[in-house]
Amino acid sequence: MSSSLPLTAPSMLSATERLNSDLEAPFSTFLRTVIAQPEAHTRFLNLLSLLEHIGSRKIMLSQMKGILTQDILKHLAEETRHAFFFKREAEKLAGHKLEGYSDAETLACGPGKLYFGRLDAGLTRDLGHDHAETGYLWVSLVIELRAIWVYRLYQQALLAAGYPLPLKGIIAEEDKHLIDMVARLDEIGFDTAAALDSAQQLEKTLFSRLFAALDAGVVEKAAA
Ligand SMILES: [Fe+2]
Ligand SMILES: [Fe+2]
Repeated sequence: MSSSLPLTAPSMLSATERLNSDLEAPFSTFLRTVIAQPEAHTRFLNLLSLLEHIGSRKIMLSQMKGILTQDILKHLAEETRHAFFFKREAEKLAGHKLEGYSDAETLACGPGKLYFGRLDAGLTRDLGHDHAETGYLWVSLVIELRAIWVYRLYQQALLAAGYPLPLKGIIAEEDKHLIDMVARLDEIGFDTAAALDSAQQLEKTLFSRLFAALDAGVVEKAAA
């Protein structure tokens, strides 16, 4: 049973926007810069593919000894498809195949992996909740909030640049994942409201580091 007021997906998204209001303008500027440079944009798309792939792999690994329900398999399949979606788009823009996620072909590849690894470790370290799905649900929820924040701003920047890449379908699926995570955590008795603030503070710190690396990667390329 939750000791705090139950949260909804929309209220969490609004809180995420407030928490990240200082990052919104600089991140939008970064997105505009990236979209204007096909080579940097290719590498950014490949990074999004990598992050989606890591997400789908983490879902799979978290359930090796757990319970692969239909819901979890659906989530896994959708994250894998998101990785495919961004890889296909990256290759389309590059005009050739991009094998895997090399440093040369992936923007901030190392910092992207670090972001995910440290977030996963930080969020599951003191979980103290032994349901088989808790870690998976909790990490997914925090990641979905960032994914939706990033994809909404990316969608706006793409539209403004006239770049034909509709993210509506992906955003709708991430929204649904968030709703599912919130509902399932509530069902298994996890107190999301009590844990969310510090989790999002940690996530923001880690995301800010990734963003700094993204920015540096684009500036370096632009200057080269
Ligand atoms: Fe995704
Ligand atoms: Fe998702």
